[in-house]
Amino acid sequence: MAKWRKRAFAWCYHHLLSRQGEPDFSDPFTREVRAPLLAQARGDVLEIGAGTGGNLPFYPPGVRLTLLEPNPYMIRYLDGNCTAHAADCAAIVEGIGERLPFPANSFDTVLTTHVLCSVRDQSEVLAEVRRVLRPGGRFLFIEHVAAQPGTLNHRAQHAINPVWQWVGDGCHLTRDTGAAIRAAGFEHVEIRPYNVRVWPPLASPHVFGSAMVGQ
Ligand SMILES: C[S@@+](CC[C@H](N)C(=O)[O-])C[C@H]1O[C@@H](n2cnc3c(N)ncnc32)[C@H](O)[C@@H]1O
Repeated sequence: MAKWRKRAFAWCYHHLLSRQGEPDFSDPFTREVRAPLLAQARGDVLEIGAGTGGNLPFYPPGVRLTLLEPNPYMIRYLDGNCTAHAADCAAIVEGIGERLPFPANSFDTVLTTHVLCSVRDQSEVLAEVRRVLRPGGRFLFIEHVAAQPGTLNHRAQHAINPVWQWVGDGCHLTRDTGAAIRAAGFEHVEIRPYNVRVWPPLASPHVFGSAMVGQ
């Protein structure tokens, strides 16, 4: 992708899309999904596709964060947000989820939020997540997925998907990410559905939950 589009996406994401500043618990998605899920993070945490750092206010105290992000223009905002939130950002690393630059068994928690919609190969990323998690470690995720086949939303998602990918830095509206997580070989997979109250509901429904690597 052209540099100017990477830069424009990072600017728009930081200034228009991701909620910066203090957590907004009046927002149902924050209250019911994002905050409770991130509260489960423990120990050494890897966030893949950390963007501009929208998740930073929601991590519990005591976690040690490694933030991976492929877009260097996002990383500029990410750096500033680590300081702003006084988060323990041990490392900010430029890289992709398909080839994690970390040894096996490095992390207690791996997180993705709105990332598996954009990666080139979901199964490669999920295999990498399993590789870098320690035994008993947990993968936490929040992802938007394809609507039920046969619905108006499903048809709209397929029609708009090519344009959406261009505008949204490779984001797909039509992926069955829940199925990909179930097929990836984790144990204790818990996947819950969530409908974000937005109109039009293109980047909806969502799935969120956790999956564990065996002890
Ligand atoms: C919609 S943004 C979400 C950012 C952040 N996770 C959040 O929830 O605010 C998608 C992010 O995934 C990143 N991304 C895209 N492809 C990726 C890949 N192959 N590996 C890791 N991150 C990727 C993008 O650069 C972008 O920061």
